[in-house]
Amino acid sequence: MAEAPGAPAHIAIIMDGNGRWATRRGLSRSEGHRAGTRTARAIVTRCRELGVRHLTLYTFSRENWSRPKDEVGLIFDLLVEYMRGELSNLLEQDIRLKVLGELDGLPFVVRQALTHVMDKTVNCRSMTLNLALNYSGREEILRACRRLVAKGAAPEAITEEAFAAELYTAGQPDPDLIIRTSGELRLSNYLLFQAAYAEFYFTETLWPDFDAAELERALADYQSRQRRFGKTGAQLQPE
Ligand code: FPP
Repeated sequence: MAEAPGAPAHIAIIMDGNGRWATRRGLSRSEGHRAGTRTARAIVTRCRELGVRHLTLYTFSRENWSRPKDEVGLIFDLLVEYMRGELSNLLEQDIRLKVLGELDGLPFVVRQALTHVMDKTVNCRSMTLNLALNYSGREEILRACRRLVAKGAAPEAITEEAFAAELYTAGQPDPDLIIRTSGELRLSNYLLFQAAYAEFYFTETLWPDFDAAELERALADYQSRQRRFGKTGAQLQPE
């Protein structure tokens, strides 16, 4: 499969709408999350084929702990199932798994399944798949501050680069494109520091219905935009 020219180096997705997708079909929310997991699997593969080097999926926010216990349990069960079922595919596609978020706060079996896949894929280079899990953008920023203080960093040494090196995404480029499905127009505590110059793509499509065609529409939209990074349009014209 040919790589898309000008594909964003890093796409971050807020996978929203599993519950509504299920309710509209008279199914349980669990069925929505199951369908959402199938979509995640397909989108990972498609991004890899298109030459996207970093893909971040918002899988479980710190705020998601307030959902009913059964639903939280089901999301973790799906995650473990995904880890067990996908390892060989990730290796075959040369995809490295990373977790953004507080691993220690996750149930032992989930941690164990994630750690196993992270260890096995540590040398994979074609794409990095970040799962944001037990993640909060504000907490990530506070954590970076605490880490710098603990290191005894001098105030003048706290540059954007030094700060970024203490985030969960250390060593990875900022997201170029952030996609949110299901018509919600919020960032929901996602990659707050890293999103500074990201382009946004919002779609009414519910996550389980987000397919390769919709991904390609998002990429075409992204490629039609002029990213200015604070400069004027004229400054960006070649001399
Ligand atoms: C949002 O739908 C989705 C989530 C809270 C995250 C759960 C994501 C999955 C199960 C996909 C799993 C992905 C992997 C990689 C295993 P929602 O419940 O907020 O939908 P609603 O707003 O319609 O209720």
